[in-house]
Amino acid sequence: MISVEGVTKRYGTVTAVDGLSFTVDRGEVVGFLGPNGAGKTTTMRMITGTLQPDEGSVLFDGVPIMDGLTEAKQRVGYLPESNPLYDEMLVAEYLEHVADLRGLSAADRRTGITNAVDETDLGAVFYRPISECSKGYRQRIGLAGAILHHPEVLILDEPTEGLDPNQRVEIRRLIGSLGRERTVLLSTHVMQEVEATCSRLVILSRGKLAAEGSVQELLANRTGGIRYIVEAQGTGVTEALAGLAGVSGYETFAVEGRVRVQLDAATDEDLRPAIFEMAKDSGWTLWELHRERASLEQVFRNLTSELPGESEKEPAAASEGAPNGMSEGEPGGATDDEADAASLEVSS
Ligand SMILES: Nc1ncnc2c1ncn2[C@@H]1O[C@H](COP(=O)(O)OP(=O)(O)OP(=O)(O)O)[C@@H](O)[C@H]1O
Ligand SMILES: [Mg+2]
Repeated sequence: MISVEGVTKRYGTVTAVDGLSFTVDRGEVVGFLGPNGAGKTTTMRMITGTLQPDEGSVLFDGVPIMDGLTEAKQRVGYLPESNPLYDEMLVAEYLEHVADLRGLSAADRRTGITNAVDETDLGAVFYRPISECSKGYRQRIGLAGAILHHPEVLILDEPTEGLDPNQRVEIRRLIGSLGRERTVLLSTHVMQEVEATCSRLVILSRGKLAAEGSVQELLANRTGGIRYIVEAQGTGVTEALAGLAGVSGYETFAVEGRVRVQLDAATDEDLRPAIFEMAKDSGWTLWELHRERASLEQVFRNLTSELPGESEKEPAAASEGAPNGMSEGEPGGATDDEADAASLEVSS
């Protein structure tokens, strides 16, 4: 349904998106992942038609969106990053305002608002000022605005960013239900986010496609790696383990006279016999030896971690413990946000 074909976007000397291609099929809920600055927002703005690619194109059902921008925009609902809302408006006024921007007829506006309020469960705050609404409700308001015109496609840019854990669960559930009858592309840099919600993941690193597939496929991926936990007492434990064939990385911790070493393996071959032999030959006391499959979060880190010296930005701490409300470091001003909210203008 959505094809992103060889899309590149530069901001001056920064290549934000670099020859990116992927597809989203009808009815899918696809997670769009990448560390801060990977190019998620830039890509999403090109899919919604608010930003024009320098190279390549975005197609809906085989038709380049730039060939029929008005029609393409009618098919897409967009929740921009940081969800810009007008605090001074009542929820009802805001939804009327979005309906105005969309140019909905009186009848479409009535059914659009009624359905959106119903789907996002906003009845309780409908006549409240937006400034009095919690962050969770604000996201619901943004989602209601995005679905007013009955779009088949939803583009949601970090919809759970800045929410507390309970609100996150609620919004994820809401996205799941909105996604039952729509095609959804949802961005996040929190890996756990997507396990419950998404049927497939597209992972971006520095503007390029790093991986694509279902959670199971990515976990089974060779590059995901296997991890060993070894706790031992003896001399030269860390150095010897780190030098073992098949080990691609390690972390070590001192534990009461012993060392606990976490080894990342670049091979599927089971290294436990070799580790056991090493312990025996070196006269170590072995307290623990344990093999585990990499978590989705490790897969994400392996796929997107920056090489030393190449990073212009800190790679994301892709952990659930990441503080909420982190700054996004995005220079886009109010003009951008307004264009996003209305999704009616094209900038280049
Ligand atoms: N309006 C802009 N002008 C200049 N550079 C920009 C602009 N918007 C984004 N960039 C740069 O383009 C790159 C990709 O940014 P983008 O916002 O698309 O990433 P992102 O994956 O959405 O990141 P985040 O997780 O922080 O939201 C970054 O290096 C960013 O600094
Ligand atoms: Mg972004």
